[in-house]
Amino acid sequence: MKKEKMNSVAFLKMAAQAAKRTYSPYSNFPVGAALLTASGIVFVGCNVENASYGLTLCAERVAVMKAVSEGEPEFEAMAVVGGRGKAALPCGACLQVLAEFCGPEFPIIIAPLDDLKKSEVVVLGDLLPHAFALK
Ligand code: THU
Repeated sequence: MKKEKMNSVAFLKMAAQAAKRTYSPYSNFPVGAALLTASGIVFVGCNVENASYGLTLCAERVAVMKAVSEGEPEFEAMAVVGGRGKAALPCGACLQVLAEFCGPEFPIIIAPLDDLKKSEVVVLGDLLPHAFALK
């Protein structure tokens, strides 16, 4: 899906719906992600926290793991909805995971949970210009 063809409202709404399933009793910071695959399937994810804080899974990585484990490792775009007033950006760990499967032009549409109209499109290469690689 080309950036300009992306129905960003519907896509963001899928991420916002996913955020409603957040398990975030420690941070009270819900995040939802929607991941569009090359075959047109959308996988969603929410953040899932744990009493052992470091085991927390971000919404983005939940969506990526769902897609890859269902045989859909090619991605077109991701929507991430989190934060209030200001959109949350994907964390470094999630960017590195995305960089495993996506190139620098991979579009990520972000918006705050309380105002999906305040959306912005960013690309993976701008957020993580120097991803770790084994070669
Ligand atoms: N979180 C995400 O789901 N995605 C990110 O990219 C950054 C942070 C979650 C993890 C934790 O449950 C909460 O936001 C606060 O850090």
